[in-house]
Amino acid sequence: MLQIPISSIPLLVSLAVLCVQAVRVPQYQQLLPLREQAAIQDAWTVERLSNVPQLLKKYEVDAWLMSQKEYAEDTVFWSLKSATQFSARRRTVDLFLANAIGDASFAYNWIDNTPEVWSELRSVLEAHNVSSIAVNADTDISFSSGLHAGELEKIVQELGPKWENKLVVEAMVGVEFIATMVPGRLEWYHRLQETAWAIITEAFSEAVIEPGVTTTDDVRWWMRDKIQHLNYTTWFMPDVSILNAGDPFSDLPIAERKIIQYGDLLHCDFGVTALGLNTDTQHMAYVLYPGETEEDIPEGYLGGLKQVNRLQDIVKSNMKVGTTGNDILKTSLEHMRNEGLGHSAGTLIGMFNLQEGVEVLGDLPLLNNTYYSIELSAEYFIAERNQTMNFYQEEDVYWNDETNEWDWVWGRQEKFHLVRPPVDGVFRIQGL
Ligand SMILES: *[C@@H]1O[C@H](CO)[C@@H](O)[C@H](O)[C@H]1NC(C)=O
Ligand SMILES: *[C@@H]1O[C@H](CO)[C@@H](O)[C@H](O)[C@H]1NC(C)=O
Ligand SMILES: *[C@@H]1O[C@H](CO)[C@@H](O)[C@H](O)[C@H]1NC(C)=O
Ligand SMILES: *[C@@H]1O[C@H](CO)[C@@H](O)[C@H](O)[C@H]1NC(C)=O
Repeated sequence: MLQIPISSIPLLVSLAVLCVQAVRVPQYQQLLPLREQAAIQDAWTVERLSNVPQLLKKYEVDAWLMSQKEYAEDTVFWSLKSATQFSARRRTVDLFLANAIGDASFAYNWIDNTPEVWSELRSVLEAHNVSSIAVNADTDISFSSGLHAGELEKIVQELGPKWENKLVVEAMVGVEFIATMVPGRLEWYHRLQETAWAIITEAFSEAVIEPGVTTTDDVRWWMRDKIQHLNYTTWFMPDVSILNAGDPFSDLPIAERKIIQYGDLLHCDFGVTALGLNTDTQHMAYVLYPGETEEDIPEGYLGGLKQVNRLQDIVKSNMKVGTTGNDILKTSLEHMRNEGLGHSAGTLIGMFNLQEGVEVLGDLPLLNNTYYSIELSAEYFIAERNQTMNFYQEEDVYWNDETNEWDWVWGRQEKFHLVRPPVDGVFRIQGL
């Protein structure tokens, strides 16, 4: 399959690269039986819960109260629940205390539909002399705004004015609780990310794509079926597009053409879900023409990928723990301008996975014990096409305690995935 000109020095170099790459071919990672997965998840939940009193102290609140009814759960419920819980039951009330008195528990849970829940709640608040109670009633941040309007009304009604006066909104409590990734999760996150890479690698290859026949939708549905076959799930429909003709994230019309052809530059936005964790990755692929090898990828495309890799390095190096997303954005843009990367603000999109709109969420501080998605694109002029194109990349990172910097969970894309032309007799002779 390799068409290598014999007796040339670059041959040795490319062989060396191939060998190194072979070690890093992502493999499908099998999940454990559901019962074992549940035990792992529940252990993580216990570990996360044990951290709540410290979290409340950090944000200077005395207690954290959540109340919800079956089918109308608080956003935080999904991070609190056990692996065998599929919804809240009746009225489910959770209370956490920063400073439980004596040997008393710091965590309380009621599943009840009688008024008794409220009298018991009041007596716990009373017994611990609680002075402020955080509720998830933020106006902007979804992770801290899961308290339903009717439920807040009920709390106020049942607790009375004395406790109503102590209700506060501290958005970071919900955000940090949900975002906190206990160390044991990393090993599994790595496996999930490797599986996501393995699915993309197979999807973006001649095993799945036949130029002139396969459509981008065929690839998307192949990915969905593959996820199911591996007993994973996902949290968004995989996106696959042809980049040459249009830009999937701009206001310009997206390429109408869906049938993949030779010479196409492909893009995907893809993630998997398992064990309560989600991954998020954007990669690109190039479809080689018959007779072409990796050496024939247009220079412009290689330059675009290098450019977006540089951008990733810049953003990653500016992700200082404690600074806000907006600060990181600003510093990164300055950094890029200094390097003459000619980048405009609009092309840096959704840098962190807690950001929908930079206006509010961009002011949140960067936390170290969580995972972030670095999602960005670089504009690059493609001489071969006389056209400027966007090069998209997205990769998840975690904080590495040993090196004190962010590391890619599995890796980052430095080479295009390749859809190789069919190897038929005629073609091989041409190649030699
Ligand atoms: C209860 O807390 C208040 C301040 O919030 C304090 O003044 C008071 O002494 C505390 N009472 C007890 C019994 O701890
Ligand atoms: C998926 O789950 C089924 C049923 O538990 C099991 O038989 C199969 O081996 C699993 N497949 C993979 C790839 O883990
Ligand atoms: C994370 O940052 C906090 C300060 O925000 C610090 O106390 C803690 O030691 C850091 N943890 C790690 C693992 O670096
Ligand atoms: C490249 O495109 C520009 C407009 O986008 C056009 O003015 C120019 O003539 C084109 N150059 C070539 C060589 O086609």
